Amino acid sequence: MSELRTLGEFIVEKQHDFPHASGELSSLLASIRLAAKIVNREINKAGLVDITGSTGVDNVQGEEQQKLDAFANEKFKAALEARDQVCGVCSEEEDEAIVFSKELNRNAKYVVLMDPLDGSSNIDVNVSVGTIFTIYRRVSPVGSPPTQEDFLQPGNKQVAAGYVVYGSSTMLVYTTGNGVNGFTYDPSIGTFCLSHENMTIPKDGKIYSINEGNYIRFPQGVKKYIKYCQENVPEDNRPYTSRYIGSLVADFHRNLLKGGVYLYPSTQSHPQGKLRLLYECNPMAFLIEQAGGQATDGKTRILDLKPTELHQRVPLFIGSTNMMNTVHEFLEKYPDSDY
Ligand code: AHG
Ligand code: MN
Ligand code: MN
Repeated sequence: MSELRTLGEFIVEKQHDFPHASGELSSLLASIRLAAKIVNREINKAGLVDITGSTGVDNVQGEEQQKLDAFANEKFKAALEARDQVCGVCSEEEDEAIVFSKELNRNAKYVVLMDPLDGSSNIDVNVSVGTIFTIYRRVSPVGSPPTQEDFLQPGNKQVAAGYVVYGSSTMLVYTTGNGVNGFTYDPSIGTFCLSHENMTIPKDGKIYSINEGNYIRFPQGVKKYIKYCQENVPEDNRPYTSRYIGSLVADFHRNLLKGGVYLYPSTQSHPQGKLRLLYECNPMAFLIEQAGGQATDGKTRILDLKPTELHQRVPLFIGSTNMMNTVHEFLEKYPDSDY
């Protein structure tokens, strides 16, 4: 790890990759970096102060909102609003898109979509959680409030995307479409330092990540793939290994580094799966493709899906190319209506 290159310097350096870049995207990424540090500080205190547990309300997904979900949502929103580069935000924690009202924000070019705290059921038990974000250029005219159209762009229009994993160390990983880079937070100096330059996912891996508790409700193709992983012994005599944290960010991060595949398929009761297209699947799909892997809903490339709703869910299959090819062979062999 090089403490000699900070995230801030790296962002400015890479700004030159964008023709006519005026520093707005750099400033926007600086807001995300700042909010990540604040959220990291709070997460590290969980257990000491009264910030764990539920707020007592359900979010728009009908899921129990944790105090840190609400805290992270407020901090990211405030940091984004303060820097005038963003005209609106779509968040997992808010029913409708948030429109920033200041004139400077109305004149901004970008919208941000985010899952402020991913894996929040893990907060109370000291297991890794994350933040996921993605940035789009607005399609509505600058100077007017952002519209639904700005937020419902397909993933292939993302300008930048990334995540923060608050784990045994805290890391920020992002892409602007020129590869993926990772920065580890050094709390002693309060700085993210470049630690993982040009990250690529191995073409093959041994890890499959899926909530096997839902096994009986999975489509046949997924069941058969799981059985294949359990029964197939590769040449070096080591079987596949199952790893599932229950925080997409943490599961994704491990698989990115080690090689693997993450599956959140449809189930009989939830035909669209659980994960949200706009602020979970799209950013992760952009990152995995930039790292040399693949992401689909079982048939279609995630980045080519045309969103219709802010909180839309889709099945997600994401990871190492060779493993994804095998997953697809199973999904094609067994029709997905057959559970
Ligand atoms: P969130 O905490 O933002 O609602 O996301 C939780 C997601 C994701 O992080 C994780 O992979 C998945 O839910 C776990 O779901 P199951 O408990 O159904 O496996
Ligand atoms: Mn999430
Ligand atoms: Mn969340």
